[in-house]
Amino acid sequence: MRAALLPLFAGAILAISLPARADRLPVPADAPASFKAECGGCHLPFPPALLTAPDWKRVMARLDKHYGDNASLDEKTRRELEDFLVRNAAGNGRMAGQGDPPRLTASAWFQREHRKVPASLWRDARVKSASNCSACHSRAEQGSYRGREIALPELREKH
Ligand code: HEC
Ligand code: HEC
Repeated sequence: MRAALLPLFAGAILAISLPARADRLPVPADAPASFKAECGGCHLPFPPALLTAPDWKRVMARLDKHYGDNASLDEKTRRELEDFLVRNAAGNGRMAGQGDPPRLTASAWFQREHRKVPASLWRDARVKSASNCSACHSRAEQGSYRGREIALPELREKH
């Protein structure tokens, strides 16, 4: 009886201790239709779990000054998206963004997961920016970030 429960516990502990190693970051099921439409037009609709709630509030408070772009929305949509992002935000401080507005690509978590990526590659013509997830993660649109799906051959060799 106890032995049968052991793998279950082991699985639960693993799930708690390893959230930052997740290679699946799908868009949460409770996403409003406006999420992909309004936050996926200029870049990938970033997984809400990659920034903390205070970060998302800061992003959503200044959509008119959005990393050099204007991403303003009507108040109803803005509020709906802020609620969704905050609801699904990271609780883990390692996901705290840096900058104003905060960048998820500057979090301690992102930097660690990408420590093997040479600095020059972030500016490579095929990549252009660290926020261009799909340039390297061929199935990022599907929420999948597995090592074997890395698109750049020189990065694939590294593991
Ligand atoms: C009009 C185009 C546009 C729209 C619409 C837009 N963004 Fe952005 N977003 C940008 C640009 C440009 C950047 C900066 C990209 C870079 O520097 O690599 C950016 C960057 C970001 C970043 C930081 C990524 C990083 O580098 O860590 C976040 C987070 C973000 N956007 C969230 C959102 C959310 C949430 C929405 C929907 C409410 C949204 N964006 C809609 C253009 C847009
Ligand atoms: C220059 C290429 C590049 C870009 C751009 C990039 N990544 Fe990565 N990413 C990698 C590499 C290489 C790894 C390590 C893969 C491995 O060894 O498993 C990685 C690892 C990851 C992992 C961990 C996967 C796991 O197995 O646990 C996640 C999650 C991830 N990236 C998300 C993102 C997101 C989200 C973005 C965009 C905001 C992004 N990456 C942009 C190259 C990139």
